[in-house]
Amino acid sequence: MSTPPKGKLPLPRLAELKRDGEPIVMVTAYDAPGARFAEDAGIDIVLVGDTAAMVMLGHEGTTVPVTMEEMLFLTRTVVRAARRPIVIGDMPFGSYQVSDEAAVENAIRFFKEAGADAIKLEGAGPSLSRVRAIVAAGIPVMGHVGLTPQSATMLGGFKTQGKTAEAAVRLVEDALALEDAGCFAVVLEAVPSPVAAEITRRLSVPTIGIGAGPDCDGQVLVYHDLLGLSEGHLPRFVKRYANLSREIRDALEAYAHDVRTGAFPEEQHTYEMPAEELEEFEKTMRTPSASRASDQARSASSRPANAQLPAARSEPPGLKTSSP
Ligand code: KIV
Repeated sequence: MSTPPKGKLPLPRLAELKRDGEPIVMVTAYDAPGARFAEDAGIDIVLVGDTAAMVMLGHEGTTVPVTMEEMLFLTRTVVRAARRPIVIGDMPFGSYQVSDEAAVENAIRFFKEAGADAIKLEGAGPSLSRVRAIVAAGIPVMGHVGLTPQSATMLGGFKTQGKTAEAAVRLVEDALALEDAGCFAVVLEAVPSPVAAEITRRLSVPTIGIGAGPDCDGQVLVYHDLLGLSEGHLPRFVKRYANLSREIRDALEAYAHDVRTGAFPEEQHTYEMPAEELEEFEKTMRTPSASRASDQARSASSRPANAQLPAARSEPPGLKTSSP
């Protein structure tokens, strides 16, 4: 593993926070302003989630379409602005399912090209050998079990997981297996609180809950959900801390109204020039030679680059008409 940049929250600090019973705060972000706000709010972990597919890229109800290139682009923008928080790149669907080798190659791209501090991937089972291989390459991995949106179709939709005793035991086993494989933390999504509490007790690495109750070691929410930028149906576990989409709509409507009625721009939004320069400028513009020269400049600039120029005049037009 490389040395973390100065001021970065050290990864082992997360385990200490768990030991000390201090909640870990994680949020998603997808651009530099979001990362800066998270930094200023003292957030511990910023996840560049593949929820970007839905909240940033306009795909409806699925995280599957987002590509490696898109995730790398977004992760770079976050890395530039998040100094203290640990930045995690979320491996998109298709970037780690094929083989351990492909998983390591793509994790290295997050680490090396985008500057992420760690990566996250979904599931246990086949994902366990991916975790081992990526950790062996020196890249920290966050696990994710419960509702794993990339396999939502197989899970029967965006549904709570671990609701039967058998499924709950499987979740505990999966989380333990992810810790064994080397994950430094595990996200628990849409899991009944008592199951999440049991997993949290059994793991020595932190659990980060989203719809998993209050007993996890930390919590994560999607930026757009908590700020009220997402519209339409929201999962039960979301708490809204603002209603930014209403504020943005109101502001854009007010702007459109002001432009159309001439209420914007006002004098305070415009630039002045010294009175004598303005007078001189207006005088120049009123002389026939100046207006002819500006007409010529305008017609030259609208000519295609490869158009034939007219034959050169023997005398510049301005000289001919210089006398009043
Ligand atoms: O992609 C994402 O935003 C996530 C969080 C919901 C944990 O995986």
